[in-house]
Amino acid sequence: MSNLLLVRGSTRGDDSLSTKIALQLVDELRRKTPDMTVVDRDLSLAPLPHIGADFSAAIRLTPEDRTPAQAEVIAVSDAAVDELLDADTIVISTGFINFGISSILKSWIDHVARAGRTFRYTENGPVGLLSGKKAYLVIASGGIYSGDAAAFDFAEPYLRRVLNFIGITDIEAIRIEGVAYGPEAAEKAIGAAKARAQELAQAA
Ligand SMILES: Cc1cc2nc3c(=O)[nH]c(=O)nc-3n(C[C@H](O)[C@H](O)[C@H](O)COP(=O)(O)O)c2cc1C
Repeated sequence: MSNLLLVRGSTRGDDSLSTKIALQLVDELRRKTPDMTVVDRDLSLAPLPHIGADFSAAIRLTPEDRTPAQAEVIAVSDAAVDELLDADTIVISTGFINFGISSILKSWIDHVARAGRTFRYTENGPVGLLSGKKAYLVIASGGIYSGDAAAFDFAEPYLRRVLNFIGITDIEAIRIEGVAYGPEAAEKAIGAAKARAQELAQAA
């Protein structure tokens, strides 16, 4: 049986375009694989706490050396890591916020990029521990970054690098770009994203 993890990173609730396209993609992937289980982690409804001193100390300690407060923050991180390890397919959606990803999604990454769990240090540098997983990124933005403004895009390149770092290399992206350029431009961008989601699900 295959497992899909949907990580919703939009901060715009029901108005979110990245969520809308991510949900379409998940529906189509599920139609293709009806026995697929879906874990829906909606970070806007249940944001993970920002990491702090307890987290930063605890990741370097064995469980028996952690204080109760440290054990509590690590349990939150472990649960997010377990969900990621259990998934064969990961769909990550986010709005493009101030040239990068939303802070709720960044916080999820801070919890799942864990030495000893999702990557490890070797003599030749860090090595990702996740293998055989497929990831889809769904990113909605007011502006257009696929052309001349690519240097301002700290969302897709960042997500790709961080997923590569933990061992996920099979990554597809769906962009919904230029939605701030008026209703017509937004409709066009949404239409193109819907078609791309359909195409990617068919190819899965
Ligand atoms: C606080 C905030 C900051 C934003 N920053 C950017 C930005 O830097 N560049 C951009 O193209 N769009 C920016 N936008 C527009 C969003 O990317 C756009 O509304 C997108 O649809 C959000 O994704 P969502 O609909 O999935 O929430 C910003 C929106 C908000 C609310």
